[in-house]
Amino acid sequence: MKKITVSAPGKLMLFGEHAVVYNRPCLVTAVNQRLNLEAEIIKNQILLLEAPDVQIQEYQKELKDLGKGDIPKAARFVEMAVKNFLTEYQLPAGLKIKTRAEFSAQFGFGSSSASTVCVLKGLSEIAKIKLTNKEIFDLSYKTVLDIQGKGSGFDVAAAIYGGTIYFWTGGKIIEPINIDSIPLVVGYSGIKADTVTLINQVKEKADKNPELVEGIYNRIEEIVNQAKEKILKKEWDKVGDLMNKNHHLLKQLGVSIDKLDKMCQAALDAGAYGAKLSGAGGGDCMIALVSEEKREQVARAIEKAGGIMIEVKVNAEGVRIEV
Ligand code: MEV
Repeated sequence: MKKITVSAPGKLMLFGEHAVVYNRPCLVTAVNQRLNLEAEIIKNQILLLEAPDVQIQEYQKELKDLGKGDIPKAARFVEMAVKNFLTEYQLPAGLKIKTRAEFSAQFGFGSSSASTVCVLKGLSEIAKIKLTNKEIFDLSYKTVLDIQGKGSGFDVAAAIYGGTIYFWTGGKIIEPINIDSIPLVVGYSGIKADTVTLINQVKEKADKNPELVEGIYNRIEEIVNQAKEKILKKEWDKVGDLMNKNHHLLKQLGVSIDKLDKMCQAALDAGAYGAKLSGAGGGDCMIALVSEEKREQVARAIEKAGGIMIEVKVNAEGVRIEV
């Protein structure tokens, strides 16, 4: 096989962000906006990368130099994923990779983790090595840690397994939640957040006040476990209540911002069951849980608070080979 096209979904964190970095669980769902990647074997021993969505054009590097020198931020995940693959397995020659996302890299939907997963899935197919999902997870998570130093791996798991999953730090538990959908509205704050900066900010707070932060993480863990049960029973009013509590704890961690708080409050005032920021905080998206009757009203209220609606379906399929 010389050429392959793979796609993986973006994700939305439902419950448990930040605490999941520190040996705790979270709930994450895959969304139906995908990252597409085409990988092709070429003659020269180089990696050629085209990722126009993130302004990477005609990027090239000798295979033996992968991971070395100054790598543009937007090329890091693909380059390190290829490097990590080549450390363990072989390819017949060099590679040309093209990526195209159906969602903006600004949303915090996890374009970096989705592209990492696509690289490893695609290369394992080209090299005819039947890697299991868990093996792809381990290599992808290693790639994320090589670049960021920190992170739970939940985004990588969502891109691989798809659906909605109960996930524990580092993939200790990856459990599918058997539901058909979750009635969510998604609002983008218009502000790009940097996950590593926010993780570091929380770490600083934890270093100064470990008991306070451990206490918050413990409460978030309880909320995640309760939310898992309530989502399975479709008790949306209770799930909404847990979202509000989770948002409140994230505020205490210091990762929310005025804009996200206002968007969440607007959603609640318009009749949402609950609302919270989704992801690292500092910007990116918020989610609100709604009844079908209130959906439009809540969406308009979030817009009035300055949010941009993003139409997505949750529970999307994980990484797949495209024909
Ligand atoms: C970022 O979307 C969510 C965090 O929990 C980081 C992670 O789990 O890797 C802050």
